[in-house]
Parts: sequence; structure tokens; C-alpha cells
Amino acid sequence: MKFLADSIFFSPIEPSAKAEADFFARLKMRNGTFKMTRPSRFQDWEERLLPFLRARRGGLEDVLDIGVSTGVTTVEFAEHLRRHGFDARFTATDLFIDAFLVRLGRHAQVLCDGDGWPLRYELFGLSMRPWTRRLDYLTMAFLPLAIARKRLQPRLAQAIRAGRAHRVQMTTRLPQARSIEFIQNDIMQRTPALEGRFELVRAANILNVGYFSADEIAQALGNIRSYLAGSGSLLLVTRTGEAKGNNGTLFELGDDDRFHILDRVGQGSEVESHVLGLAPKVISLDTHRRRVG
Ligand SMILES: C[S@@+](CC[C@H](N)C(=O)[O-])C[C@H]1O[C@@H](n2cnc3c(N)ncnc32)[C@H](O)[C@@H]1O
Repeated sequence: MKFLADSIFFSPIEPSAKAEADFFARLKMRNGTFKMTRPSRFQDWEERLLPFLRARRGGLEDVLDIGVSTGVTTVEFAEHLRRHGFDARFTATDLFIDAFLVRLGRHAQVLCDGDGWPLRYELFGLSMRPWTRRLDYLTMAFLPLAIARKRLQPRLAQAIRAGRAHRVQMTTRLPQARSIEFIQNDIMQRTPALEGRFELVRAANILNVGYFSADEIAQALGNIRSYLAGSGSLLLVTRTGEAKGNNGTLFELGDDDRFHILDRVGQGSEVESHVLGLAPKVISLDTHRRRVG
């Protein structure tokens, strides 16, 4: 039996960026987000960023891309910067990177997350979604979907624990992605290993109002600020609009530990006011003395 997921994760020839994007865009994660990404989403930002990167004191060594989905746009970003003389190391994070393929007999396979939460079914050559949409409540299709999920999740989790599952990474197989470090990481959880490292952080199509509460956005922004390499570091927050282009804002972290706007595309980021309103960290007198000498 041939499974679509096998052609994405294991085929000897890498799938095209489009085939990958189509496959991953249909995966709905446990927290309700889709692994949705598309190549060439950020062309409007690419050229605009360059003068700010060139003007930065101290070069560009480490870049962090947050909520990258498969990382296809991270690859594009890294390649773009490389073409323009910036040879930065790239770290890419997402809440859901690790997944598992579990065979159920000869004709069925499930792609699930580490807790056995189903992300895609394949049955007799048909690929099916495990998640429900609004229409399913009218047609009653939600019922078999909910029952299947409830029954399967413990079984899939057990298969993972027993080593009867194939571990896969929901990241692009483009060869250029090999130099990118992918980390499964929650932007809501402060991660000491990321602190103070990055001269540029991009948060694209993740810090969305309506998806996260104002408190969560503030928490994520506080974490992001702690990952920046101090004043002069840059933060790009952007969201791709319905009609292709982006609404986003480029910020710089100032000596006052506050973000300031450097540039905008479209209508600017919808979380601009959250970023500008982020209170400076309270630093101890000792740290202050050390900083000012
Ligand atoms: C719409 S995709 C954006 C992908 C890519 N940045 C782009 O713009 O094409 C949003 C991604 O954010 C990830 N995500 C959701 N909540 C997250 C969290 N708390 N921490 C890190 N990533 C998260 C999702 O798994 C998903 O892959």
C-alpha cells in the first residue's frame, strides 16, 4: 500500500515545496493552529530589510524564526540573506515539529503528534482529516470523527511508547534546510538556551490577535525580547494578508529596553501597540552598575 505521508517524509527524491506545503497545510494541530505556510510569502519584506541589517552595528550572526511551520520560508529567508552577504546561523522553532507515523494494519496509517493526537488518516489510499469543521455539525459528520479520535488517541500513544511508530519531523526536506537548527519550542515558555543570542527575530503569522489573548502576546513578546542580543537587535512581526501582501512592522530594541519602530509594510503589525507597550525589564541595581560600568 502506498501512503501519501511516506512520499512526503521518506521518498528518495525530495518532494517539491508545493507538494510539501499542500500536505502540511491540511494538518490541524491540537491547539487549533494549522501548519500553514507558503513559499514566497515575504517578498515584500526581503528587500526592505537589507538597509536596516547593513546599518546595524555589530553584524548579524544569529537569526531566530519563530512559529515556522515546515520552515520553507525560513529557508527562503536564509538564502536571501546569504545572497546579500549575511552568513547568519538560523534557528527555527515551532510548537509542533516532531510527529509519528503509526501503521494500523496493511491499509491504514495515521500521522499523529507525540501524544497520539491524530493529524491525518490514510485509509485504502484515501487521505482524510481527523479534525472537524463547522459544517460537520450540520451533517453530523463530527460524530464519527470525534469517536475515531477518542478511540485512536490512546492506541496511537501506546504504539509510540512501545516503539511501534516512525518518528518524523514536520519540516521541509529542501536540502538548504539542513543548515537550519529546528527546535520544537513553545513561544509561551521562556527558554534559557535561547536567551541573549539573536540579533534578529522574526515572528511571522503567529502573534495574531484573535488567536492569542493580549496577556499571551505580552508573554510571548517578553520571551522574544529576552532572546535578543541586547539593544540594537531587531524584531520583525508580520502577518500575511488575504490578498498576498504583508502587514508587518520592523522594531529595534533600544537602550531603554523598549521597542521602537523602524519600518512598516501594509498597515503595520496588528500587535504593534502590544510591542510598543511592553514594559522594560526591571533590572537589579547590580546589573545596572555592571552595564554602565
Ligand atoms: C500559520 S503558521 C506560520 C508559518 C510561517 N511562519 C509562515 O508565516 O509561513 C503558524 C505556526 O505557528 C505555530 N505555533 C502555534 N502556536 C505556537 C506556540 N505557542 N509556539 C510556537 N509555535 C507555535 C504553529 O504550529 C504553526 O506552524
